Amino acid sequence: MNKILEIKNLSKDYHTINGEISAIEDISLDIYKNEIIGIVGSSGCGKSTLLSILSGIEKQSSGEIISNNNNFSYMLQSDALMPWLNIIDNACLGLDIKHLKTPENIAYVEKLLSNFGLSAFLKAYPNNLSGGMRQRVALVRTLATKPDIILLDEPLSALDYVTRLTISDDIYKLIKKSNVTTILISHDIAECISMCDRIVVLTKRPGKIKNIYNINLKNKKTPSENRKDKLFVHYYDLVWGDLDKDIT
Ligand SMILES: Nc1ncnc2c1ncn2[C@@H]1O[C@H](COP(=O)(O)OP(=O)(O)OP(=O)(O)O)[C@@H](O)[C@H]1O
Ligand SMILES: [Mg+2]
Repeated sequence: MNKILEIKNLSKDYHTINGEISAIEDISLDIYKNEIIGIVGSSGCGKSTLLSILSGIEKQSSGEIISNNNNFSYMLQSDALMPWLNIIDNACLGLDIKHLKTPENIAYVEKLLSNFGLSAFLKAYPNNLSGGMRQRVALVRTLATKPDIILLDEPLSALDYVTRLTISDDIYKLIKKSNVTTILISHDIAECISMCDRIVVLTKRPGKIKNIYNINLKNKKTPSENRKDKLFVHYYDLVWGDLDKDIT
């Protein structure tokens, strides 16, 4: 398998007025090209911190990230569309910032939006779209710059259950079609198992790697189909068993 990213002994301490908080500790992980890797762990265990470091928003306290000049795109946990921009402009925001808003790239974004059934909404504004539609636009914005790696922090957590299931299928298909390596954070174990090739379970804070599971379902299909696989419950039990439940 083709390694795209190497995370070596990564730790992060935040210095706050109340003292030092160790958010993650000694995380080492290889990421392979085109995989979808899920990260689960209890609230506050450092999942967003890890993505912020990978994206360059935060600097690690120690450790190393070895990447071959990969182009990252980060969909933040609290991802919001700009209310004053229409859908196509929101989706092209990353291109705009990087001065890459060429006719070809705009056409690519329109194609992605069309894949999500959003062609009729290019000139609409975010407040006229449902939550599910807005999340699709946010994902298109994340993919617009054709990144090598996307970092998705709880991309579906704000959505109702039925919309989550539908969108996880749509997102999965788009990720696979775009051949983009994906690091996905989710609180939802079932969602992670249904979408990911591997799952990393973190301990409670400071987050360390507790276990890594290869998700070998018999016939990998769409996330909603994967949930029906006989092994699904087996992986669910393994990950659930690993999670720290004593929330402090
Ligand atoms: N900028 C910051 N300054 C100080 N402390 C921070 C900062 N960002 C995060 N923390 C602390 O670091 C720890 C890890 O936070 P982080 O947001 O990475 O956790 P998380 O696993 O993403 O949590 P959640 O599941 O609730 O999103 C928490 O205790 C949090 O309060
Ligand atoms: Mg978080």
